[in-house]
Amino acid sequence: MAQSLPLNFRVSREEIYSAFEPFVHRRFRSSDMRWKRRVFRSWRKKFLEFWQHKIFKRLNTSFGGRQYKVKSTYENFWGSTETGAHLSTKGKTTPCLWGEDRMLARGIGTKRVHLLLLKRAFETVQPESVLEVGSGYGINLFVLSGYFPAIRFSGLELTRQGALAAKKIGKMSCLSQDIVDFAPDPIIDVNANRRINFYQGSAKNLPFADNSFDVVYTVLALEAMEEIRHQALRELARVARKYVIMIEPFSDFNEKGIRYFYHTSHQYFRGRVDELRQDGLEPHLVYSDIPHKIRLWPAMVIASPIS
Ligand SMILES: C[S@@+](CC[C@H](N)C(=O)[O-])C[C@H]1O[C@@H](n2cnc3c(N)ncnc32)[C@H](O)[C@@H]1O
Repeated sequence: MAQSLPLNFRVSREEIYSAFEPFVHRRFRSSDMRWKRRVFRSWRKKFLEFWQHKIFKRLNTSFGGRQYKVKSTYENFWGSTETGAHLSTKGKTTPCLWGEDRMLARGIGTKRVHLLLLKRAFETVQPESVLEVGSGYGINLFVLSGYFPAIRFSGLELTRQGALAAKKIGKMSCLSQDIVDFAPDPIIDVNANRRINFYQGSAKNLPFADNSFDVVYTVLALEAMEEIRHQALRELARVARKYVIMIEPFSDFNEKGIRYFYHTSHQYFRGRVDELRQDGLEPHLVYSDIPHKIRLWPAMVIASPIS
């Protein structure tokens, strides 16, 4: 669903299809019993997690509810992630949807689509400086800086392991072949990894002056910041001069069925697009017509800080 708003943002169905297709292992009709069985298994798992969360809420705060849990989860994750395996088209699959399409695909394929949307968004808003908040080991920044040699890119990440992994890749002589191959469009500058500034810190208190970057963006990072949602959104608005771009599971798209169970039991981001104004952001464009896991539907929102 692309809303008719002033930004001239364009992405075609064919481009999205070709970005995602290498990660699709099997396609189904919605009536296919094999598809129904996979979906049922996912529903059952998420439904049980949902009730576990409801019953033991006070004893066992789940993932997104507390930043200390998010931090320890991602310290372990980024400390043990190897880019080749992480970005591979081969490996475990998950049920995914896109309109009427039913697919078993590698979840990481959705990131390729997110990168395509961000590329088109940057072509539209033409920033000179960009910050990613919650940048993990920097995969989005490495690909995007490879497309836009004239933009100054920075990344800020909560975990030491994520920031260290990003800095390590940043010191390599050029982008690794895994990253070049993962990029949905051809990379222009293979030395882009050396141009990015990485910081360790929290979105709760960004260590930057007001209006420091033309664009500030997040990809599936606010999802884990429900505890600090309002502070984080205000911080994004404060340090962004022109736009804040978020590819996040806004509640608008995650309020029903398996997505509701998953969202609730993980205590993910509960923000709605029309609530962004409360935290100083005016939404201009919402784009949600993208392949996504059945359990979580992120949408891209382009907003500007309200001065
Ligand atoms: C799902 S990962 C996404 C990483 C990256 N954006 C990507 O698309 O590959 C979420 C990231 O947000 C980071 N994060 C969570 N809370 C944060 C905070 N308060 N400040 C900065 N980063 C945070 C986590 O450490 C993790 O690296």
